[in-house]
Formats: sequence, structure tokens, C-alpha cells
Amino acid sequence: MNYHVFPTYEALSTHAADFILAYVRNHPQATICVASGETPLLTFQKIVANTQPGDFDQVTFVALDEWVGIAPDNAGSCRSYIDAPLIKPLGISPDRVSFFDGLAPDLEAECQRVNDFIANKGGLDIIMVGIGLNGHLGLNEPGSSFESYAHVSELEEVTASVGQKYFQSETRLTQGITVGLKHFLEAKTAIVLANGPRKKDIIKRVLEEPISESLPATALKLHSNGHLWVDAAADAS
Ligand code: PGA
Repeated sequence: MNYHVFPTYEALSTHAADFILAYVRNHPQATICVASGETPLLTFQKIVANTQPGDFDQVTFVALDEWVGIAPDNAGSCRSYIDAPLIKPLGISPDRVSFFDGLAPDLEAECQRVNDFIANKGGLDIIMVGIGLNGHLGLNEPGSSFESYAHVSELEEVTASVGQKYFQSETRLTQGITVGLKHFLEAKTAIVLANGPRKKDIIKRVLEEPISESLPATALKLHSNGHLWVDAAADAS
């Protein structure tokens, strides 16, 4: 696992955006899995601001996760957090993006649909995610198998309560649907981003604790091309 500390959230986001832009210029048919949440928002902004015509014409995006029971057009949905700041401004056509439908009547079939979408693209080139206060990646909560592809997860209390920050009014969150840790481990490049003092304790745990499914982010240590990029406020080295 490559650990790198950037002086500011701005510098971290510039680096992440430049990495993605350089990658798609060299790999025009890349498939990239991106996370929702607050962490990648500045990265998305910088990708959109610095993209050149043609950069994303053949790129495919996969949205990392979704809250079960939340409508796609809810401003707090994971989809909204990716669609509005990244997918729409880049003009990605609907056939080149996968979102989980948190309202799908058959969630297992929805997982299979996303698994097939990723498999048909030959797997993920890049997966770029944030980290939860409990060490989750996507909605792979503690205890999630490193062998799992897309699946439905039961949310821990901390995830359900921290998740309220995305919604305008109190919203019941009990389950998630998420790309699995096996997808994360099989991606050619895996990047975890963290910023701000709130993340310092969990970054310390990831750095110090052994690889274990009880701390999903330690999967990064199993990855042959895994990167943990943090700002100085989240640095725990
Ligand atoms: P955040 O969420 O980017 O809003 O901090 C990260 C996560 O919970 O995975």
C-alpha cells in the first residue's frame, strides 16, 4: 500500500484529478468506479474543470454504491452525489454509466446486473473511494467478505447516522447496495482518499492494524497497486 500525505485537501484533490485525467488520456476506454460522499467532490470539480474535449468520450463509469430504499432523484442519494458534479458535466451517455437503483424490487438481480456490467467491461481499471469512520469502503461494512462482488449490506449505526449529512431531513437508512471488495481487489488501481481531522483515527487504524475483514479498508494492503492518499489533517503516520 502506498501512503501519501498531501498538504491540503486542495492538493489531494488536484493530485487525484490529475491522476484520472492522465489515465484516461492513455487508456481512452477505461472503466472507473467512483464514490459518492463529500470526499471526492473537489476531485470531481477539478476533473470537470480540466478535462479536454474527447477525454471521456469512451470512458465508462460505475457508481460505487447506493442507499437501499432511496430514490435516484433524492438529493441525498449516492447517485445524485456522482451524477450532478461529474457525470452530467462530463456529458457521459447513459450506456457508459452504471448506477445502482436503491428502489430495485429485486436487489439480488440488481447486484447481478452491476456485476455483469463490470465483467462485460473486463473489470475495473480504477476504483477511487472514500473511507467511512468505521473503515468501510463503499457500503462494505466491517465483516464484509474480501471475496464478495456486488451485494446488499446491513448498515452499522455509525453509517446510518453519519449518512444523515447527505439528506435534507432525517432519513431512515438500514441497508446499502455496493460494489464488493473483490471488485476493489481486482481493480488495476485502487485509491482511497481521506481528508480532514474526522478521518485521522480511522486512518491510524488502517495503518496500524493487520489485514482483516473486520476493517474493510485494510483490503488496500492486499492490493498490489493500492494507494491511500490523505491530507495533512487526516494524516496519522
Ligand atoms: P464522506 O464519506 O466522503 O462523505 O466522508 C465517505 C464514506 O463514508 O465512505
